[in-house]
Amino acid sequence: MLKRKIAFDLLIFDKLSDLSQNDQKLLKDAIAARSNAYAPYSKFKVGAAVLLENGEVVIGNNQENASYPSGLCAERVAVFQAGARFPGVAITAIAISTLPSERIGATPAAPCGNCRQSIVEYEQRQQSPISIIMGSEKGQIYKCSSMGDILPLVFDGSFLNDS
Ligand code: THU
Repeated sequence: MLKRKIAFDLLIFDKLSDLSQNDQKLLKDAIAARSNAYAPYSKFKVGAAVLLENGEVVIGNNQENASYPSGLCAERVAVFQAGARFPGVAITAIAISTLPSERIGATPAAPCGNCRQSIVEYEQRQQSPISIIMGSEKGQIYKCSSMGDILPLVFDGSFLNDS
């Protein structure tokens, strides 16, 4: 039997101003995008901002629906929009923001499993990692350097091909 440990580096910042200038700007774009979320059912607003290698920023926010599963998360709204508007331009980072929690020691919300799966597909397509910045205007900020890091043992297109 072999036992493999799968680990990744998570950077934890105490506050937004501890981030690099570029990361601060992207997270602020995600925070701004959050206010236009359409979340009448969950009341849980999420904003996302995607940075492309050409410097463009594409934002998204969650869009809910009375038929709940028909809605879409902020991350996928942003990333799919980037893919539609800038095909072939690599995504370098995504910032994600939910309203800061008042809970003591609350951790920043991380992307759901469906969003991880969708975004890993973009990493594989462009053959380069997408870093993830998670946080809000208050509290700690988390950063990791690849979506693949938080979706180990991923299911991808290689399983669908025999060649
Ligand atoms: N949501 C996101 O936008 N991103 C996530 O990663 C987690 C959840 C949205 C979906 C739904 O509109 C609301 O948050 C509550 O789940």
